[in-house]
Amino acid sequence: MIEIVEVGPRDGLQNERTPIPLPVKLRLIHHLVEAGLNEIEATSFVSPKWVPQLADAAELWPELPTGPSFSALVPNARGLETALSLGVNRIALFTAASDEFTQKNINQSVEESLESFAQLANCFREAQPNGWIRGYVSTAFECPYAGRIDPHRVVEVANRLVKEVRVDEISFGDTIGAASPSEVKKLIHHLVNDFAGDLSKVAWHFHDTRGTAIANVAAVLESGYFHRLDSSAGGLGGCPYAPGAGGNLATEDLVYFLNREGLECPVDPDRLAQASLEILDLLGRPPASRAQQATLALCARAESR
Ligand code: HMG
Ligand code: MG
Repeated sequence: MIEIVEVGPRDGLQNERTPIPLPVKLRLIHHLVEAGLNEIEATSFVSPKWVPQLADAAELWPELPTGPSFSALVPNARGLETALSLGVNRIALFTAASDEFTQKNINQSVEESLESFAQLANCFREAQPNGWIRGYVSTAFECPYAGRIDPHRVVEVANRLVKEVRVDEISFGDTIGAASPSEVKKLIHHLVNDFAGDLSKVAWHFHDTRGTAIANVAAVLESGYFHRLDSSAGGLGGCPYAPGAGGNLATEDLVYFLNREGLECPVDPDRLAQASLEILDLLGRPPASRAQQATLALCARAESR
């Protein structure tokens, strides 16, 4: 079965300047859970100076519903301390394949981030022996500052996350939504030959800036190695430190694609299509996801009959 990691409440919102009130974020999360999403990246314990939208992480976390797996981004010891005080047992540490990006995003080189993440991971495991650590490798194809990225470098960073940080899974990020399927296949080829971790625990995190995300998902699934995909309801998203980063792959587009491909995916498309509407309305934006638009149009037609 394909596993969807819904990143909308975190990646979908972090770039938005309009403050989204906490109850609205919680309603989004509840709707996503009701739609059948059971793995959700809920927020980030990052500096509110860097990401003001997620400054309410410590207020949000205790209000999350029980049942699904929730995770949060942690950038440093301060973030880890807050996360652990709230009982967070799934964290994501985030580095990249390019120093230019990590400098802008977390004010560290890749090397510095790997060293500090190894320490954070040890502290986390001590406090949460059954916890789960995701490691992100952003700019896995292209960096907004350094340009195209050599897949050897991507595998090198991923291997260090596996060996030195001992993450439980890696998510490869096409941070600015630049990759095409042949580039995805090339990275997969390098992973198959040189990756030190478990390929079945690799996730793919596509942004849909240029409309290539679903084609890239198809390339990932065709390879036969992977079954974990990140996406964001309503196609919300972008990284504040990645100019040109468009929304994430929309969960609605992903769910439609999986259903049509006959792949098992227990998410209700009608409920999912409704989940992000309140936030989109607040942001003054129509749904970007084509599948969401189509589902909403069909629902409206059915209601008017
Ligand atoms: P810094 O400025 O070097 O660190 O930021 P600092 O220690 O000097 O802290 C600056 C201020 O923030 C201080 O406050 C700290 O106390 C406070 P002041 O003394 O000035 O009043 N602070 C914190 N407050 C709350 N929680 C914390 C925390 N840490 C510091 N954890 C830092 C370094 C890492 C903190 C900063 O760069 C940061 O928070 N970066 C996060 C940026 C971010 O979240 N980016 C988006 C996520 S990555 C992404 O989107 C890509 C991804 O989606 C995958 C893909 O698409 O490829 C994952
Ligand atoms: Mg992202």
